[in-house]
Amino acid sequence: MSLTSPAPAMPRRDPNSEKTIDFVVNKGNGIKGLADTGIESVPQLYILPPEERLEPSSISTHRSIPVIDVSNWDDPVVTESICEAAGKWGFFQIINHGVPLEALDAIKEAAHRFFGLPSEERNKYWAGNSPTETVVLKTSFAPQAESVLEWKDYLSFRCSPGDLESFPLWPSVCRDEVVKYLESAKPVIRKLLEILLKGLKVKEMDKAREYSLMATPIVNFNCFPRCPNPYLTAGIRPHSDGSTITILLQDDNGGLYVRATDDNSWIHVPPVNGALVINVGDILQITSNDRYKSIEHRVVANGSKDRVSVPIFVIPGADAVVGPMPEVLQSGEQPLYKEVVFSDYLKNFFSSKHDGKKTLDFARI
Ligand code: OGA
Ligand code: NI
Repeated sequence: MSLTSPAPAMPRRDPNSEKTIDFVVNKGNGIKGLADTGIESVPQLYILPPEERLEPSSISTHRSIPVIDVSNWDDPVVTESICEAAGKWGFFQIINHGVPLEALDAIKEAAHRFFGLPSEERNKYWAGNSPTETVVLKTSFAPQAESVLEWKDYLSFRCSPGDLESFPLWPSVCRDEVVKYLESAKPVIRKLLEILLKGLKVKEMDKAREYSLMATPIVNFNCFPRCPNPYLTAGIRPHSDGSTITILLQDDNGGLYVRATDDNSWIHVPPVNGALVINVGDILQITSNDRYKSIEHRVVANGSKDRVSVPIFVIPGADAVVGPMPEVLQSGEQPLYKEVVFSDYLKNFFSSKHDGKKTLDFARI
């Protein structure tokens, strides 16, 4: 953003909501801090207008996204299922992926441990307080631009090799688990991207391509505290991810819904023991020139328990130039996107509230 461009308009809020903002955002207690005070109703600041709520009638009960057994990654049936799912659904689950069950349990427990700390302890990592920019605790998505906030706090770890130098400053209740989990997930990330690129007739993952697709892993701990009335609010509004791909571990509370592109209904992604949920992000939709689809999804918090999830967002390097790959355009296909610098894309991504797939427009021709 240039210095002369206007600041985003501040949403107008009632006095009660200003108080909530002060407690949750300015004082850094997060929605977890507010939920832990024992509130019995959803504060005004979190109540969605009726048309934005998830209506039971829009939930598709008879369909589900594919669950793919990847015990034999190189089996053509497996690779075809992955590429097909990425094109048709943009979302699928994988089982027998090689990340041990213990590592999955350990990272979920680590997320619960962090969010179980007293508010003052968590607050040490609040945006602006954190001893390192590689770990930051935030709430909602873009609270400065949202008139209704999302029922979610998240602790975000930036994990490129240089970032790991700040490891001693990371919260001791979870830092070992983050590093171990990421190490065990890295072969899965690489394998998935190799298969997806092969499906586009891109043969090699050379260093340049690696930088433009998978330079920086971000590991988030999402916490959706127990909510007195989950369907009045949004854990996360409908959005697509600004990643190349996302590898998500959800707990067994459920609550993740994916948009079906044919009839616009919402499909629940049921927790499957040992599974990882994989989704295509905007960057892979752009680089594949729409061959793979980044699909809208949303989260509903739980009425009786804190829900946690752990996404790994695989993203390009900050100054990588992102656009449709030459191999995809070889047959004379028209590019649907222009080239954009990834850091510009991301700045735009975080500048307004989650709003479906509008983030892709930034790069669309
Ligand atoms: C996200 C997201 C889904 C979930 O963090 O972008 O979509 O189930 N999370 O928590
Ligand atoms: Ni998402």
